[in-house]
Amino acid sequence: MALRQIRIMGDTILEKVCRPVKEMTPRTKELIGDMLETMYDANGVGLAAPQVGILKRIVVIDIGEGPLVLINPEILETSGEQTGQEGCLSLPGQAGIVTRPNHVKIRAYNEDMEQFELEGEELLARAICHECDHLDGIMYVRHVEGDLFDVEAEEEESEE
Ligand code: NI
Repeated sequence: MALRQIRIMGDTILEKVCRPVKEMTPRTKELIGDMLETMYDANGVGLAAPQVGILKRIVVIDIGEGPLVLINPEILETSGEQTGQEGCLSLPGQAGIVTRPNHVKIRAYNEDMEQFELEGEELLARAICHECDHLDGIMYVRHVEGDLFDVEAEEEESEE
């Protein structure tokens, strides 16, 4: 596995619609492993393939409950509302206030291309919506209420 370079907002690859994954290949498995490693290295809770320059419908998420891999995710249902701070590894050091559904139900495929359904609330629902948006070329800043604001970078917090 290897770290991949995270694309920063302004890179047009972040504005493109990603293609569905049709079959699992060793190369795609490697990509997923690299995405997880890259997300953990950057202290993120989610990462979408276009953020590492690959236009495939693949998302990885870990809200602190273990890694989730979502391939070709589809949001089936949403309900409720939550308003809170959101950031993105493609826009380091900044955050904004975004309203998202408080509950989502999705269908996706796992790394063995087996279909599954998953329900998430609160942070998981927010992460799923945020990452699925990336697959359609949408950055969270499009949903931000008010202005973006500066937040302390993760590197500074850990003081390595
Ligand atoms: Ni993001």
